[in-house]
Amino acid sequence: MPTFNKNGRKKRDKERRMNKEERIKKRDKERRMNKEERRKKRDKERRMNKEERIKKRDKEKINKEERIKNKFRTKTLHQIGSHYKTDKAERHRYLDIYEKYLKSFRDGPVKLLEIGYKEGNSARMWEAYFSHNETKLYAVDNKQSCRCNLSRTKLINADQSNRQQLINKVARFGGFDVIIDDGVHKVEQQLISFGVLFKYLNPNGLYFIEDVFLAQRFPTQYSYKEPYLTYDILKWLKEYGIIYSDCMLFDEIKYIEDFYDKCIFEPCRKSNLCIIKKKF
Ligand SMILES: C[S@@+](CC[C@H](N)C(=O)[O-])C[C@H]1O[C@@H](n2cnc3c(N)ncnc32)[C@H](O)[C@@H]1O
Repeated sequence: MPTFNKNGRKKRDKERRMNKEERIKKRDKERRMNKEERRKKRDKERRMNKEERIKKRDKEKINKEERIKNKFRTKTLHQIGSHYKTDKAERHRYLDIYEKYLKSFRDGPVKLLEIGYKEGNSARMWEAYFSHNETKLYAVDNKQSCRCNLSRTKLINADQSNRQQLINKVARFGGFDVIIDDGVHKVEQQLISFGVLFKYLNPNGLYFIEDVFLAQRFPTQYSYKEPYLTYDILKWLKEYGIIYSDCMLFDEIKYIEDFYDKCIFEPCRKSNLCIIKKKF
């Protein structure tokens, strides 16, 4: 009897041990699975949250753009420019002239490039004025001074007097309807940019050069190697159809002489805005 009891206890103990081990294994397995499932669930939720956040952000961005579009739809370019505090508005009084030439582009898809964006004031004005969804806006500056939110403008870091940089960084976006030079306002820089970029203007496109008089009014601040002013060079283009410039290349001069249609001077407060229209 005692032997039987002893054997029975041993057997029972063994069974208990086995059961315990199995229970532990089972529990560990369940824990591992739960952990895995929890991790998967958490990742999924995170992914969904991220997607939702992105969707929400995109929606807010679209809403903001729509609000801006609606807010400025009926405003003149001058009113929009004053709102965004570009010096093209109150200081130079350029904007009524710009509007005269750009009104026809307002509701269509336009491709516009501006040299010189500084704090982004004029870029924000163009974004508000040209509200078409397919409008493409580009702005070039040699200093990346703008930290502002420009949702629809591509900012390009380039020097307007460096041919290679203009060709490598700007020309690839070419096919512009409008180009505006509001950069450094020095004769050489204005002429190099004009020489390089006129080729990338669409037929019927408009090339604006601001402050073509500045070098004459402030010869020390705006000193130039070129013996003539941008104003003189463009006046000869207007009157005789020729360009005489030391800092433009032969093929640039030939291209402009062959493809320009008209050259218009618009006197404004303190300076002169020149518009060169390309042939159709
Ligand atoms: C008059 S501000 C532009 C103002 C801006 N368009 C507006 O209306 O708010 C001139 C800008 O030209 C830039 N600039 C000066 N030299 C340049 C160069 N060589 N190439 C490109 N940008 C230049 C300056 O950094 C400056 O931001």
